[in-house]
Amino acid sequence: MPKVPFGPTYDEMLNPSHIDPEIRKKALHSKEDELNPINLFNITWKNENNEVNKIVLPKELTGVDANIVVLLGKYFPSGSHKVGPAYSTLIEGCVDKEIIPEKHTILGPSTGNFGIGVAYICNLMKYDSIVIMPDNMSKERYDRIKRYGAKLDLTPGTESDVILTLQRTYELKKNPNYRSLAQFELLPNYRFHRHVTGNSAIEAVKGIGNGRIACFASAPGSAGTLAAGDQIKQAFPEARVVALEPYECSTLMNGGVGQHRIEGIGDKMCTLIHNVLTTDFVALISDEDSVRGLKIIHDAPHILVENGVDPKVAESLRDIFGVSTICNILGAIKMAKYLKLGANDNIVTVATDGYDRYNSVIDNLNHRVLETEDFVLRRWFKDIFLKVDTEHVDDLRSMAKKERLFKQKEHDWLRFDYSIDYLNQMRDMKFWNDEYELIKKYDKKILEKRGKEL
Ligand SMILES: Cc1ncc(COP(=O)(O)O)c(C=O)c1O
Repeated sequence: MPKVPFGPTYDEMLNPSHIDPEIRKKALHSKEDELNPINLFNITWKNENNEVNKIVLPKELTGVDANIVVLLGKYFPSGSHKVGPAYSTLIEGCVDKEIIPEKHTILGPSTGNFGIGVAYICNLMKYDSIVIMPDNMSKERYDRIKRYGAKLDLTPGTESDVILTLQRTYELKKNPNYRSLAQFELLPNYRFHRHVTGNSAIEAVKGIGNGRIACFASAPGSAGTLAAGDQIKQAFPEARVVALEPYECSTLMNGGVGQHRIEGIGDKMCTLIHNVLTTDFVALISDEDSVRGLKIIHDAPHILVENGVDPKVAESLRDIFGVSTICNILGAIKMAKYLKLGANDNIVTVATDGYDRYNSVIDNLNHRVLETEDFVLRRWFKDIFLKVDTEHVDDLRSMAKKERLFKQKEHDWLRFDYSIDYLNQMRDMKFWNDEYELIKKYDKKILEKRGKEL
């Protein structure tokens, strides 16, 4: 009989201090040996001292008084926090006996980081896997997926063509040996981020400003990360949750469906697991600003220093952000201005991954623009970071606005065999709270079955 993989509960991912000390020690010592399955116990936002990996952005970079706190996803195994939803979906399926080790092949529809997470997790948990993704994403993504041993099934296009990956997955799923870790539609993604990311965000602001969260801003791909907002609102009911979109692909704001350059977000849909009830605002950020902003931070720390950023801090920022992080940071700055937040207020956002998968994107930028001399980068720095405006923010708090998003969801998901009754249940917060409560059931099952025969 196949065995259930030996991995953490939701509680242990949030609180690694609750892991058996011997196992935790082994996991921490095995970080360099990344394909050692004990690394499943390093799926957490916390470092070896049980503190959330985060950075409070220097005010000289943001130009606002509010504290912008960025949670750092780069330190998760596989280099991005998307490994968390991949693991959660697989372990839930496993303890439910729906995904059998050695029998089922795992499908991971993705634009990159989730696919990397799926390939990685399947390597550790001994499943074959196929990552289904567009053929025009950053080269570094495909390299990593192959390195982790997954097969690639490529559909045409870029980030905005992710619907083609869903259609392909829908077809492949007809094979009874295939099981899909469908990040856009399955609730373990919601559970992971509401519980693990949400509560980590709440801990991350302790001792900063007033110790509360005034705003959580995140650019949805699957909208899993946005679920952290549901938990943040439980702790801080005044918190505003903001979905950020590329200006070039403003689906949630006004049905826009253009091509854009921010890998991982702006997928031309309202995902099934997006709880639109708790999304208060949507704001648009330029894709080119996000790419250029990353270039400045990575290639030109001296320009940050000229603007007053501490040299050590400027250096420390170089490798911990990706393009979508810059989008999130620009969105956080925009919302600090829009919501008129002050020095006591905290905005939390997320760096899903780090620079390691964007060299090719910055090379491409260098080829696209005529000059990247310092005098150009100086101007970019001021225009992109210091002159963020409060345009293109839409208030989604009225039911009329939410209705538009519910309709978008129907448009996107009824075609994949979800019933209108199921979608209507999502109009009530009870649906989301009930789904969240399932964590208790799953944690109990994971503990009981860990490492044992199915
Ligand atoms: C780089 C990057 N940023 C942001 C996101 C969006 O995160 P989520 O899917 O949780 O909305 C993703 C998702 O894959 C990503 O890869």
